[in-house]
Amino acid sequence: MPVISMANSKGGSGKSTSALVLACELARGADVVLIDADPRRPLSAWSTLAPPPERLDVVSSAGERAIQDEIDEAASRVPFVVVDLEGTASRLASYAMAESDLVLIPTQEQYQDAQAAVDTLAELKRAGRAARREIPSAILLTRTRAAVKPRTARHVAEQLRGLPGTRVLNVELVERDAFSALFASGGSLHSLDPRDVRGIEKAIENAEAYAGEVVKILREVV
Ligand SMILES: Nc1ncnc2c1ncn2[C@@H]1O[C@H](COP(=O)(O)OP(=O)(O)OP(=O)(O)O)[C@@H](O)[C@H]1O
Ligand SMILES: [Mg+2]
Repeated sequence: MPVISMANSKGGSGKSTSALVLACELARGADVVLIDADPRRPLSAWSTLAPPPERLDVVSSAGERAIQDEIDEAASRVPFVVVDLEGTASRLASYAMAESDLVLIPTQEQYQDAQAAVDTLAELKRAGRAARREIPSAILLTRTRAAVKPRTARHVAEQLRGLPGTRVLNVELVERDAFSALFASGGSLHSLDPRDVRGIEKAIENAEAYAGEVVKILREVV
C-alpha cells in the first residue's frame, strides 16, 4: 500500500520530523511502518525513548542493498509505509524514491533550502526516468512561522509555489516546540506532557491537517 518517502538533500530541512509526525498521525487509524533509512538512525533512537504508538512499527534499514526489499515487504503488510531518508543525495535515496507512491520534500523557507528542494526535484526526475514512470511529489514547507511570515520566507514560498509542475502542500508544518520535543521524549504528540511542552493542541491540529492533505493527495495519485 502507499509508500511515502521524505527526501531533501539538504540536512536539517525537517525530513525526520515530518516523517515522524505523519507516521504517528496515520497510526491513529491504520497500521504504519516507519522505515528509518538514515544511517544516523534518528527514528530508531526515538522509538527507544518511549513506547511508539501501538499501530506504528519502526524498521531500521540495512542500507542501499536492502531498502527496496524492505519497502516491498512493509508495503505488502500495512496500509501506509513512511520512509525517512538521510540529508544527502545517495543511491539509497534514489532507490527509495523509485519505490515511492509519493515523495514529500520538506523545505524551510530560506533561499538555500529552496535551491536544495529544486535539486531534489531534479534527482527525483532522474529516479523517475530510471523507473520509467513519473513519481508524484510535493513540497512541504517546514518550520514556518505561525504568525506573520518574514519577507524572505514569503518570497521563497511564492517562488516554490510558482515552479511549473510542482505541487506545494497547502498545509505547512509550523515551527513548534511540540514537534522538536518528540525527539527528546519519544512517543507521539498525544503522549507529550502539557506541563513540559507548550502548544501541544495547536501542534496536533497542524499534524491532523498535514496528514489529511497527504491522504487526499495519495487518493489522487495512487
Ligand atoms: N516543525 C518544527 N518545529 C520545531 N522544530 C522543528 C520542526 N521541524 C524540524 N525541527 C527541528 O529542526 C531540526 C532538524 O529537523 P529534522 O531532524 O527533522 O531535519 P532532517 O531533514 O531530518 O535533518 P537531517 O538531514 O540531518 O536528517 C531538529 O532539531 C528538529 O527538532
Ligand atoms: Mg533526518
